[in-house]
Amino acid sequence: MQKTTALAVIPSIQLKFAVPYMLEDLCIIDDKCFQFPWTIKEFDIIRKRDALKVIFHKDYLVGYIAYALLSDNIEILKMAIHPECQRRGLGKVVLNEMKGKLDIQKRYKLETLLRERNVEAQLFFKDSGFVWTDTLEGYYHEDDMTEDAYIMEYNYR
Ligand SMILES: CC(C)(COP(=O)(O)OP(=O)(O)OC[C@H]1O[C@@H](n2cnc3c(N)ncnc32)[C@H](O)[C@@H]1OP(=O)(O)O)[C@@H](O)C(=O)NCCC(=O)NCCS
Repeated sequence: MQKTTALAVIPSIQLKFAVPYMLEDLCIIDDKCFQFPWTIKEFDIIRKRDALKVIFHKDYLVGYIAYALLSDNIEILKMAIHPECQRRGLGKVVLNEMKGKLDIQKRYKLETLLRERNVEAQLFFKDSGFVWTDTLEGYYHEDDMTEDAYIMEYNYR
């Protein structure tokens, strides 16, 4: 009997630039995902200064990615998928879209800073080919608590 192979279904997403009326939904997602969520004002600053894209899946707003276009790289400032939609491959598709923005000549790497305690996110980026490159000791300090930041990179070259 012929052996059948299960084909992985890649979820479809749409990435759209955030507009002000969406920011409240992003705050709700951020509240669920982070101990120190961004405020509407912070989202709006990123929206105007850098790039803030919302992730739609089946017409629902399920997350966002904030990033900055720098001279030789793209820095992923923050990203989140609504907890009810995590582990369905959506984040991976978003990173693949980000990889599509790279080119050998100019912006050839994606970079992100992750809290040392956010092991799940480290595993997520590792799964997409990111590697640890450096540690910034005591980078985060809030409420009398400090935490290191790990720099993780995906290099196109
Ligand atoms: C990190 C995050 C964006 C990942 O998004 P996601 O859509 O759930 O991730 P995916 O389903 O695409 O995961 C792809 C792969 O990454 C790895 N991965 C993702 N989440 C993981 C977790 N919690 N633990 C271990 N590995 C994980 C797995 O290898 C996974 O593949 P698998 O499900 O087939 O095993 C999402 O979990 C999230 O929003 N977390 C809270 C906010 C956060 O930490 N953001 C990142 C730092 S800014």
